Amino acid sequence: MSVLLQTGKVYLLRKAFNNSFSKYIFHRKKSDVSRKFISFDEIVAQRRAEARRSLVVQVNSESSFNELYGYCSKYASIDDIHHYKNSGGEHFMLIEFSTEENLKDILQSCSSHQKDLDVMGVQSPFLWFRATTGVKEKYPQSVKELAVKDGSLRVNEEVLFEELLNCETVSDQIQMLYDRTVLNDIGVRLRYMVARQLEIIFSSLYANIKVQPFGSSVNGFGKMGCDLDLVLTNTLNDNMTSPNHRLVYQEKKSEGGRSPWQRHMELVGALLEMRVPGASRVQKILNARVPIVKYSHDLVDVDCDLCCNNTSGVYMSELLWQLGSLDPRVRPLTCVVRCWARAVGLTNAHPGRWLTNFPLTLLVLFFLQQKDHGPVLPTLKHLVDLAGKDDIRIAEENLNCTFLRDLDRLPSESYAQNDDDLQTLLFKFFEFYSQFDFQDKAISLNEGKPIRKPNSHPLYVVNPLEQALNVSRNVSYEECERLRLEVRNAAWHLESCMDGHKSDDWGILGLVEQKSSRGLKKLLRVGNSHRLVSVKDLFNESDDVEPSEQGIRSKMEKYKKTDKLTGASVSEMKFKEKKSEMRFKNSQTAKEVYRIRRNKLI
Ligand code: CTP
Ligand code: MG
Repeated sequence: MSVLLQTGKVYLLRKAFNNSFSKYIFHRKKSDVSRKFISFDEIVAQRRAEARRSLVVQVNSESSFNELYGYCSKYASIDDIHHYKNSGGEHFMLIEFSTEENLKDILQSCSSHQKDLDVMGVQSPFLWFRATTGVKEKYPQSVKELAVKDGSLRVNEEVLFEELLNCETVSDQIQMLYDRTVLNDIGVRLRYMVARQLEIIFSSLYANIKVQPFGSSVNGFGKMGCDLDLVLTNTLNDNMTSPNHRLVYQEKKSEGGRSPWQRHMELVGALLEMRVPGASRVQKILNARVPIVKYSHDLVDVDCDLCCNNTSGVYMSELLWQLGSLDPRVRPLTCVVRCWARAVGLTNAHPGRWLTNFPLTLLVLFFLQQKDHGPVLPTLKHLVDLAGKDDIRIAEENLNCTFLRDLDRLPSESYAQNDDDLQTLLFKFFEFYSQFDFQDKAISLNEGKPIRKPNSHPLYVVNPLEQALNVSRNVSYEECERLRLEVRNAAWHLESCMDGHKSDDWGILGLVEQKSSRGLKKLLRVGNSHRLVSVKDLFNESDDVEPSEQGIRSKMEKYKKTDKLTGASVSEMKFKEKKSEMRFKNSQTAKEVYRIRRNKLI
């Protein structure tokens, strides 16, 4: 808590407990009251335990809640039920039972398979709720309510931009962007359910299999809808390999030319195709340095990347999680930078010669380590120096991932040492990279200061856990130049907002709106607002002008003059629309355009 107080930002205090992970702060035992921080391992253990006592049940609609609750609570005690929909409009309830035993009881007492269909039964935590045949059992109105309704619903961009427009300060805008887009509690729960499903299905084939989420789903920098990175490990513990146990299993050696992991991943890919409910579009990429299987989970609506034996990825997520929890400004700042980079096309969902979110996040963390403005974050070297015996972690290929895990042991003067607000930090971030010597310097979170580049890669971001590697080695010279240009543009934009004048792209709005649609949207904007005129209202059947940008521009001029649109009410607009019987000239274009006060019109 005192971390928050040190920043002196009351609004941060208010918001800091509003995200998906904050409730865990309150889950600590009484004896832990002196602790400020909860560790990544504790969070992961809590999330895994939660998944072990949860089921995801497909239902007819959210009104199935009472019946499902009544039916299940006859057999077991329920903690909470969370409702969500997937993109196919199907409804699901994630039920968290009180204990793992409860879940076993319920599966034993009332789960079934489909007898008649041409399928082979498989047990997994994903089920569906069959309608009753015959007389419908009556359940009393439950005293419990749905913990969450439509929990996977993402914020509508247009609504969000309207809210951002109405914010008082740029700092408020940044905080709001983060609060509205951060991966929420049900998003995290579902990701752990997807991992749990694989563990259950694969455990009949492998003795000690573990499937763990890593990357943005768990490192605190994820947003709603982000991909799910999963790692599969198979490590036998000391007890299982004890020489005192004299009955030893006969086992199967992996044969053939290829590496055993490649062959196992091939099998995993086949299992995903044939045995994992919800998994679709399986794609095996086995010849990469780290073999990977990509798939989509249709019941949860998430794209997954499953790799094996990559525990360093988990330790990296732990490091990022820790740095993010040291100061409440870190995650909102990273969030706005990620959104800006996406909007200006610096990052892209597909792999290529450009930046991705992971190195971009390291750029933000590195900036926050800079001492000249009072470090917000410590260097990794400092965390390594303070590490004790319990912090030793060795990943595959003997990679040493040891650093301090218990952040309560970190001296308070090594972090959160300035009280700049988010706006100032964002501006300084852009300014810092506008002046950064990308030509000769590399970014090193280990040192917390620029170091000499060991080679001529255009952008060099030292991998914090494997310092001989550059995590942005794929970035081309052109993309690095674009980064330099875009940070300068962004700094210039923010500076121009400092006079307090609120134009329609003031503050972060001018940074996070997609550049490609910004021109057209700007053209269709009504007054100083994010409500947009529909192309439908500008063109009609008899028009010989195509709805090109030029055409829209001239139409818009006329529209503004004749209709004084700025103050027009929605009902007036609708009336006019009917009266003149305007129809879409080109539905393709019209679809892409936002409607005026969408919530009332449609
Ligand atoms: N990772 C790593 N070294 C790299 C690339 C990735 O250790 N060179 C690890 C990081 O822990 C990273 C995770 O793999 O967070 C997943 O990588 P990626 O999916 O590219 O990034 P995310 O952080 O998950 O971001 P996004 O939301 O874009 O998926
Ligand atoms: Mg990812």
